[in-house]
Amino acid sequence: MKKRLFINGEWVEAKQYTTLASPFTGESIAEIPVANDEEIDAAIEAANCASEVMAMMPAHKRASILAKLADLFEQRKEEAASVIAMEAAKPITTALAEVNRTILTYRFAAEEAKRIHGETLRLDAAPGGEGRVAYVVREPLGVIGAITPFNFPMNLVAHKVGPAIASGNTVVLKPASQTPLSAYFLAELLQEAGIPAGAFNVVTGSGRTVGDKLVTDPRIKMVTFTGSPEVGIGIRNKAGLKRVTLELGSNAAVIVDEGVNIDKIIPRCVNGAFSFQGQVCISLQRIYVHETLYDVFVEKLVAETEKLNIGDPLDPKTDVSALISSADVDRTLNWIEEAKQYGAKVAIGGKAEGNILHPTVILNAQPHMKVSCQEVFAPIVLINKISSVEEAFGIVNDSRYGLQAGIYTENVHTALDAAEKLHVGGVMINDIPTFRVDNMPYGGVKESGVGREGIKYAVEEMTEMKLVVFNRN
Ligand code: SIN
Repeated sequence: MKKRLFINGEWVEAKQYTTLASPFTGESIAEIPVANDEEIDAAIEAANCASEVMAMMPAHKRASILAKLADLFEQRKEEAASVIAMEAAKPITTALAEVNRTILTYRFAAEEAKRIHGETLRLDAAPGGEGRVAYVVREPLGVIGAITPFNFPMNLVAHKVGPAIASGNTVVLKPASQTPLSAYFLAELLQEAGIPAGAFNVVTGSGRTVGDKLVTDPRIKMVTFTGSPEVGIGIRNKAGLKRVTLELGSNAAVIVDEGVNIDKIIPRCVNGAFSFQGQVCISLQRIYVHETLYDVFVEKLVAETEKLNIGDPLDPKTDVSALISSADVDRTLNWIEEAKQYGAKVAIGGKAEGNILHPTVILNAQPHMKVSCQEVFAPIVLINKISSVEEAFGIVNDSRYGLQAGIYTENVHTALDAAEKLHVGGVMINDIPTFRVDNMPYGGVKESGVGREGIKYAVEEMTEMKLVVFNRN
C-alpha cells in the first residue's frame, strides 16, 4: 500500500518514501511519504489560502462538516480500529474504544462550533467609559500546525483537528512517524465530509523537517503539540510569539488511603497501568498505598496482572501487545535493571518477548530511579507503602510532571485536601489518574505542558479575542 500526501484537497505523490513496519510483527505495512521542504511549503500555503474561506464559513456549516465526519467514522469504525491496531499495535478492543471516543470528540466539536461566543462589557464601570457599548468576539487564528503522537492516532488528532475546524481555522497535520495511516484515513473521511480544499492537509515525514517548518513558518499562527517534554520545550523555544499548546508527559500517581475497599479498585488500577501497554500520558505509573492495606493490595494487584492476555493486537482477547519500538523495549528493560540494582523488587514481569514487555509490577522503587521520576510509557507500575496521605501528597508532588493524579479515600476531608494540595492539571477523587472523557479540560502543569484540550477549552486556545467599542457620544 503506497500512500500520498494530502495537500490542498488532493492526493499528491511525494518525491521520497519510507517503509512503515508493524511494531508487533516487524513486517512492512505501507510506503509512507517523507515530505521535503517544497511539499511542506505547499501544504502551509494551501492552508493559508483556505484560511479566509474557513473564517467566513457559517458556524452551522462547520458544525455539519464535523457531524458528517463523525457519521462517516461511525460507518467505518471497525476499519478505523484495525488501522490503529495495525500501525500502533494497540489491542483491537482498545483501538475500537479509541474510535468510539473519536466519534464523540468530533460530535462535541460539531456542537461547540455553534456555541462560540463573546460577552458584552460595562465600560461605564470606569470614569470616561460612559456612553459606550462594548462587546468581544472570538476570531480564528488562521493556520494551525498540529503535531500529534502515536498513542491515540485518531482521538488525539481529533482533539486538535475538531476544535480547529469548529473555530474556523485551517490545519496542517504532521502525525507521528509510526502512525501516519490513521491521519490519511481521517483525510479521506474529511474530504468526503466536505472540508474545503486546503483547509486540512496531512504531511508525513521527519520531525526535524516537517515539525521545525511548522514551528518556525510565519504563516502558521499556532502550534498544538502532544508528545515528550524534550520536544515540547524545543517547540516553545523556537515558536517565538506563536500561540503554543503543549500536552506533554507525566508519571501519574494514585494514592490509596486506609479504609478503602481494594477489591473494588484493583481491576481499575490494572487497567490504568497496562492499557495500551502503558503508552498513555496519564497511565498509572505510581501507586502509594496506606501501610494497613499494602501487603494485600500488592498480592491482589499481582494476581489480577497475571490474568492479562499478551499477544497479537488484532486478536480481540489480547490485553497487552508490543511497545511502539524495540528501542523502547531496550530502554525500559534498562530502567527495570537499574531499579533492581538499587534494591527495588520486581513482583511480576520484568522481561520481554520480541517487542512485548510483560506487564511489570515493581515494589520499593526509590524516587530517584528512572522508573519513578521519568515517564516510563510502558506497562510498568510501582507500588510503594505510605504511612499517611500527607506523606503521599509530598511524594506525588515531588515530580517534574503534573498532568493528573488520583486518590481513593472514604474521607471527604482527605478528598478535599487532595484537591487542594496535589499540584496537577486534574485531580480524580475515587478514581485513577487515567480517567478522561473528551469534553473535560485536559492538560498539565510543570513539565506536563501548557494550555488545555477538551473541545471548548481548545477552541479558546485556537481563537483570538477581539474587542469592539461603539462610542454613542
Ligand atoms: C494522552 O495520552 O495524553 C491521552 C489520554 C487519553 O486521551 O485518554
